[in-house]
This record gives sequence, structure tokens and C-alpha cells, in this order.
Amino acid sequence: MAKLTKIVIPVAGLGTRVLPASKVIPKEMLTVVDKPVIQYVIEEAVEAGFKEIILVTRDSKKAIEEHFQPQPELEAALAAKGKNEILDSVRDILPADVVISTAIQDEPLGLGHAVLCAEHLIGEEDFAVSLPDVLIYHESGHHSTDLKVIVNTFKENNAAQIMVEAVPDDQVNRYGIVDCNGAKFHPGESHNVVAMVEKPSLEEAPSNQSIIGRYILPARTMELLKQTKPGAGGEIQLTDAINALIAEMPVQASSMQGKTYDCGNKLGYLIANLKYGLNHAEISAGLKTWIKQQNL
Ligand code: G1P
Repeated sequence: MAKLTKIVIPVAGLGTRVLPASKVIPKEMLTVVDKPVIQYVIEEAVEAGFKEIILVTRDSKKAIEEHFQPQPELEAALAAKGKNEILDSVRDILPADVVISTAIQDEPLGLGHAVLCAEHLIGEEDFAVSLPDVLIYHESGHHSTDLKVIVNTFKENNAAQIMVEAVPDDQVNRYGIVDCNGAKFHPGESHNVVAMVEKPSLEEAPSNQSIIGRYILPARTMELLKQTKPGAGGEIQLTDAINALIAEMPVQASSMQGKTYDCGNKLGYLIANLKYGLNHAEISAGLKTWIKQQNL
């Protein structure tokens, strides 16, 4: 099996659900407590062992790449003032053996199209995809636990892995939904997928297991993406390409142990800030006190 060191993170989206906040600042740069959302997502990938982070981006979103580059003036100013703790938090965000590369998606033609834009950087290798709206929270504090599980299961079972989480019936039309022949999901387990459908109506939905945005895929997926016609919403859907992959090799859905926090909409973003704030050493006590004072 080819090595699995590359992870594609599509960040070219317009962020329409969080406008006007995302008018100039990329939505991936909005902060959850004290770090931009994208930093959590990249830290999760790095902790899970990925060495090449491929951002599929567009010209107006340069701030995302810049956040991970050295800022010598800022660092010198912090060093001169002896603000070492803050200095550590802005310097060396990524380990020296991790690189960020970029591919450009200049038309918003869908998630499948975004992934295909990274084809020249993936080559013949298996790869991961991580969607940057979603943070995965694990009570242990090890938020990369679920990503590590699907990396290992991909290698052990030689099967594509799609991370899923149950959603209420009235939300199935917002997600890709997997059909696993009625399999009962226990956290950390994978089940064979027989079909996947992007944003089905409740009547069409084969289950309530939703695709949360972490995938481990074989190199072959890129070829299938090239043949994928526009689907739901008139966009080229990654879900449709993976659905085609099922005819060629096992595709499995892996049930999460952690919980998702979707920062791609206003309420989800606010809830993420509260959850991460309640667990943040510096502000947790103050936030709890304030919440208790509210007559909710
Ligand atoms: C994408 C995927 C969908 C998945 C969702 C998770 O949809 O196409 O299958 O369930 O992300 O957030 P989007 O949210 O980009 O419309």
C-alpha cells in the first residue's frame, strides 16, 4: 500500500453561512477562543501523523497560509518584551517536518472538484480529506483520536474510511448519508457501506448516519472524481465519487468516539466557542461564573 502522509483541506469556499464575518476574513480564520478554526483542524491532522497539508484555496484567502508562516517582526517584538509564553504560541505552530502546500480552486464547483484540484500534489498516493468547518472534540483532550482510528482501520482493512455521526431526522438533508444495511454503530467501529447519498430528503435517506468531513481514500478516488458528473446542488460531489468506488473496493463508515462542532454556521460557531472556552485553562472559570449568573 502506498504511504499515507497527505491530507487535503479544501478552504476555497465563500463562507456564505457566516457572512458578513467572512467578507474579508476567511471563515477558516475566525477564532474559536484564541486560535483560528483552521489551526485546530491542522493540529488534529498533524497529531494523527500527516506530514503534508494540502490547502485547496483561492487568491483572496492568503491569510490562511500566512498564519502558518513565521512573522519575524512580531516574534522579535515579543522576545524583546520577554513575553515568552505568547511567543511560543505564535512560533513553530507546525513541527519542522510538516509542510503546507497549496492548490488553487478558482471556481466554486463543489467539494469533489476541490479535491480534484489537488490531484497533481497527490499523485498515486492514498490520501485523507478533512473539511475545515468541523472541529472534533474528544473528552480526553486528544482530539485526533478519531482521525487516528480511521488511518489505522484504512491500513488494516484495506478499505476507504468515512467518519460518520448520527444526526436527528430533520438534519439528514444537510449532509452526505451512508447506507450500511442497517448496521448498528458503536463508537470506533467501521461497517461496510453499500451506498452513499448526498443531502437526501428524509424519505430518501437510508439512515441517519451523516458524513462529518474526515475521509481516508485510495489514490483511485481522483480518477473517479474526473468521471463524476454534477450532482446535488449542481456541484461535483465527493460523495458521488466515493459511491462509485464501492463497486471496486470496500468502503467503510467509521463511527466517531468524539463529538463534532460545526463552525460553518452561526449557532454552531458560537456553541464551539462555548465548549472550547469551558475547557480552556485561562478563561474556563470566568466563563462558568458568567454563565451561572445568567438567568437562562
Ligand atoms: C460536505 C459533504 C457532505 C458532508 C458535509 C459535512 O457538504 O459534501 O457529504 O456531510 O460536508 O459537513 P457541505 O457542507 O460542503 O455542503
